[in-house]
Amino acid sequence: MEKDLGNYRKVYKKKELSKTDITDNPIELFQQWFFEAEEFTGDMEVNAMTISTIGLDGYPKNRVVLLKKYTWEGFIFYTNYNSEKGLAIEKNPEVCLSFFWHKLERQVVIKGKAEKISENLSDGYFESRPDGSKLGAWASNQSDVVPSRKYLDNKLATFEAKFKGQEIPRPAHWGGYIVKPISMEFWQGRPNRMHDRIRYELQENYDWKIDRLAP
Ligand SMILES: Cc1cc2nc3c(=O)[nH]c(=O)nc-3n(C[C@H](O)[C@H](O)[C@H](O)COP(=O)(O)O)c2cc1C
Repeated sequence: MEKDLGNYRKVYKKKELSKTDITDNPIELFQQWFFEAEEFTGDMEVNAMTISTIGLDGYPKNRVVLLKKYTWEGFIFYTNYNSEKGLAIEKNPEVCLSFFWHKLERQVVIKGKAEKISENLSDGYFESRPDGSKLGAWASNQSDVVPSRKYLDNKLATFEAKFKGQEIPRPAHWGGYIVKPISMEFWQGRPNRMHDRIRYELQENYDWKIDRLAP
């Protein structure tokens, strides 16, 4: 079986990334792009990002998670600390995040180090989640092999019964990571594959070195 995708061809021509758009700090430019993505992407999950980790088996692995907050310091997401990605991060905190906002023909690629956020911050976010999501965090040993769907449904029911009528606490194995960037690359699609690429790299004095890269 084969399917030729050679004719999938798109001309990127919506926007450009010129010198005047470039801010000193990449988080500022990220903020501008994020606002525009919120405005233009409609019902797409604008905060969905790919995170790649270097696994215990030595292979990189990507998967999508949801960005829940960004600050001058970095990018926060939540997960199970015992999941495949959690164990990978414990061994190799160097990760890569990426966003693709196709309606704007834009990509952002962020390299950085992931650190667990404080328990207080994780508690605060956990409290804001709906009960169903809270119970899911208890019921799922994320990334473990399970015998069946029924096993998972039963586990959820067990925790529903356990916490009935009570405040559902945050499981210790569930919480946030902040990815502190060391490099952020902004890609704007342009015609003739002559895209704009601007890369920021964090220097020892915490200034950002800014370079334009060939597409
Ligand atoms: C749109 C979308 C959003 C997701 N958001 C999260 C998230 O915020 N946290 C999370 O742990 N997994 C999230 N997932 C599931 C992950 O992609 C992944 O399946 C899960 O974290 C287990 O990954 P791992 O086994 O490599 O650790 C999301 C998946 C999709 C498609």
